Amino acid sequence: MAVEFFQDKHIQYIKSLDTKQDELEYWLSEHLRLGGVYWGVSALYLMHAKDELPRDEMIKFVKSCQHSNGGFGPHPGHDPHLLYTLYAIQVLFIQDALSEIDKDLVTKYVVSLQDQETGAVRGDLTGDEIDTRFVYSALLVLAILGTLDQLKIDKAVEFIDRCKNYDGGYGLVPGAESHSGQIFTALAALSIAERLDLVDRDLLSWWLCERQTPSGGLNGRPEKLPDVCYSWWVLSSLSILGRLDWIDKSKLQEFILQAQDDEQGGIADRKGDMVDVFHTFFGLAGLSLMGYENLEPINPVYALPERLATKIKKCSEY
Ligand code: FPP
Ligand code: ZN
Repeated sequence: MAVEFFQDKHIQYIKSLDTKQDELEYWLSEHLRLGGVYWGVSALYLMHAKDELPRDEMIKFVKSCQHSNGGFGPHPGHDPHLLYTLYAIQVLFIQDALSEIDKDLVTKYVVSLQDQETGAVRGDLTGDEIDTRFVYSALLVLAILGTLDQLKIDKAVEFIDRCKNYDGGYGLVPGAESHSGQIFTALAALSIAERLDLVDRDLLSWWLCERQTPSGGLNGRPEKLPDVCYSWWVLSSLSILGRLDWIDKSKLQEFILQAQDDEQGGIADRKGDMVDVFHTFFGLAGLSLMGYENLEPINPVYALPERLATKIKKCSEY
């Protein structure tokens, strides 16, 4: 029998996260806070319930995470980082509030993270950590802000291409093994740069569809357990490649629906585990990509609702 989809419970679950300020669990996740806001408001948007969280307070919180160099931290008082800058810009874009910040200052911060020689992008100004996630984040922030022309896009593409492996996939850095999360960031980055011609589509699509396990769920790499969040990392990649029909959708839908908490709402990484807002969003995003009943369509490249993604200027339009 098909498992029921508990939409109202998921909306209540996400709203409840906003009121748990006196609970230990809330404080323990302080370093993730701005990410939580992006996953929470996006999940609500997919369920046509964006306004269930208070808009003005959300914008005020996001702005309070910004530093004088333009970057955002996860929470006031925490250091700025590119990932939180991306989440901040996505939330402000979703709330149609980008006019409230200095776009040039944010652009300058993001551009300053790119190595002019290798095209690699660092996560923050104090560390040396480079990663395909950061190349995608830089491209996405600037695409949303309409300032993509400020970045060395050809160099960024060169870096991503150096992360490509013999199996058609992409790793964290050149030479690192293929991983579905990194494959998503590499494909989405190449899509924003309009350079998907560099991808070995058939080889990579095979590798991706082999991520479906007998349970119906998708894993991130061979021999790993299936996990609901890979319904996004793998499926968005297949969607970008135009091969969404290479996996068994009804089995994957069932895997995601079985990971729901049927009492408190929310979705876990797999059946029986504790729910969290990250897996709730990516579970819903996966269902949305598969056209599941009455969910708002999501764009596989920008990880934003399709109706907002259409407002983003393409690279070739500059
Ligand atoms: C797996 O993470 C996922 C990745 C490595 C990709 C993460 C991408 C971003 C954070 C960029 C922003 C993303 C969006 C959608 C806007 P994991 O740490 O769970 O991997 P594991 O399964 O190996 O633990
Ligand atoms: Zn996961």
